[in-house]
Amino acid sequence: MAGTPGARRLTFNSGPLWRWLDERLGLQDLAYPVPAHANNVLYTLGGITLLGVIVLIVTGIYLTQFYHAHPDDARESVEYIIDTARFGDFVRNLHFWLANLVMITLLLHAIRVFATGAYRAPRELNWVVGVGLLATFLGLVFTGTVLKWDQEGWEALQHNEEIGELLGGLGTWFTTEFTESTPILERLFVAHVAILPFVLVALAAVHFYLIKHHGISSIPGHEEARPAGTTDTATQTDDVYVDGATVSNRIVSAVEANAGAPGSLENLAFDGTAGWVLVPPEDPQKGGVFDVKSGAQGKASDGSEFSTW
Ligand code: HEM
Repeated sequence: MAGTPGARRLTFNSGPLWRWLDERLGLQDLAYPVPAHANNVLYTLGGITLLGVIVLIVTGIYLTQFYHAHPDDARESVEYIIDTARFGDFVRNLHFWLANLVMITLLLHAIRVFATGAYRAPRELNWVVGVGLLATFLGLVFTGTVLKWDQEGWEALQHNEEIGELLGGLGTWFTTEFTESTPILERLFVAHVAILPFVLVALAAVHFYLIKHHGISSIPGHEEARPAGTTDTATQTDDVYVDGATVSNRIVSAVEANAGAPGSLENLAFDGTAGWVLVPPEDPQKGGVFDVKSGAQGKASDGSEFSTW
């Protein structure tokens, strides 16, 4: 198998069809190393979001078969989807509720990335790509709301106009003045079914390329040697498990790391003279492993006072 060194073999690879496809398309090359600490739901939020986006695209294609993006007919076509189109009501509900759910998993994914410090070098650009994905998804939610062409959709359209005015010359596209030949509803429909999905897929492709390139990040303060060919320092032997205390530790560690304090919470101490310093757990002068509940305080070897918070 050609592929990332240290990558696990994809597990659904036993059948003859899979082998046939793998030989021709090199599907195994999509595998990348997943450290042990990432085998939990927090690190699966991006994948859940991806699955949600795929179902949104499929249900969206179905709804497009019945929707008529003209101000005179839009409302009626939505009623047609609900009352007459086969599975229309179910597919519309699925599309609507899934969009809300994906918004939540997307935000939770971004929070996980922030909390584990995964936005730092060398992943800063992937964070920026992620922000682009978030903005694009917000655009999809917004344009989708207008398409309903009900009271809420009408109000959303008013906001659209206001954004256009706020942006001045650059915002003309968002207003009805941009063209008289096509109603703004039709232009927002094109944005919803063509422009924004294209941008989303293009950004997602870059996002996944960079994830494969960097591998999954390690937990701040738990970096270890990583398989050759990947750019971070975590390995599959990193056996940190996740429970409530570990998660809160990671959040605090990430915030501290962001504020310029290196390392993890367990072995950080505030030294009166040196500022934040790394404390080896076995150092008798500076005390043992950090106790999340009580913290620890004491004197450093140079006599200065420190505390582990
Ligand atoms: C459609 C939206 C998105 C999809 C489908 C997606 C998907 C994924 C997936 C599958 C991963 C692998 C690890 C995981 O699942 O946690 C990942 C990692 C990552 N994502 Fe996203 N993501 C999206 C949006 C975002 C956003 C909004 C941000 C930040 C603003 C972001 C930043 C990152 C970063 C920095 C990583 C690397 C994390 C690490 O190595 O620990 N992503 N993304």
